[in-house]
Amino acid sequence: MTRLGTAWSKLRWSLAQRGLAGTMRIALERLQRQDSAVGAEKPPLHPFDQRYGVDTSGLIGGGDLRTGHKNDVFNTAYYGMAPSRFRRVVEDWISDSSHAAISQYSFVDLGCGKGRAMMMASEFSFRQVIGVELNASLAKTAESNLAAWTGAGRAVCPVRILHQDATEFSFPEGPCLLYLFNPFAAPVVERLIERLETEFAGRPGLLDVIYFNPEAGELLEAHVGFRLLWTGTVEMSEEDTAADHVASPEDLCSVYRWVGGVG
Ligand SMILES: C[S@@+](CC[C@H](N)C(=O)[O-])C[C@H]1O[C@@H](n2cnc3c(N)ncnc32)[C@H](O)[C@@H]1O
Repeated sequence: MTRLGTAWSKLRWSLAQRGLAGTMRIALERLQRQDSAVGAEKPPLHPFDQRYGVDTSGLIGGGDLRTGHKNDVFNTAYYGMAPSRFRRVVEDWISDSSHAAISQYSFVDLGCGKGRAMMMASEFSFRQVIGVELNASLAKTAESNLAAWTGAGRAVCPVRILHQDATEFSFPEGPCLLYLFNPFAAPVVERLIERLETEFAGRPGLLDVIYFNPEAGELLEAHVGFRLLWTGTVEMSEEDTAADHVASPEDLCSVYRWVGGVG
């Protein structure tokens, strides 16, 4: 793609994601950052990567993750979930006795990026862990991260990665825990909900959704088939607070249960 083509597609993505005012604000912030970043050093790796010898650090804007798919324009960004937040919420979900045993649940990360959340999920005894990623290069990195992770004996359940669009994914049978770290904007969430209505039509109570930074959470809240179980902020460890320059203490997480019904 030419430089002009790339710039145009980034602009289109930004307008779809942030609107005109948001696009202008981000452009201004970038210019200010470029000024103050002259001579600045590359940000250090997250301790998760240092500890486990994997590559999950970094922030990549959605405009830099184009694949040619029609949903590219709704891709928010790549960024790995703060481990302390992930583990807190998943441990709380596991300790809730209102759902079937974790060993019956498939954990599905739609928008798995480099696989950080999948690696952490595989430390729990889910039936299986599945990651779905639209961007081929991120999916490849996730593959090699997971190979190192399972090779070191850290996964206690089967793990697999699919390179495809989230709205084309077929959910496995049985109970599922769907995990979303704000991977895509509302139009894709809408299409995903339509798919869930069909796939889980005969499975009321057998789909829970953990949705971090739930920017399109109102779509689930307005839907008759979903019940909001919990919403709130999730504390980060000191290590994550020091390492994570994107997350903020105000970030929300919401947990929903599919109870059945078409919105
Ligand atoms: C914020 S990152 C989350 C990474 C990972 N889930 C985690 O928690 O560490 C969101 C990811 O969703 C992916 N994504 C965005 N739109 C997608 C789509 N339509 N289908 C599949 N993946 C998508 C992006 O490429 C990006 O890697």
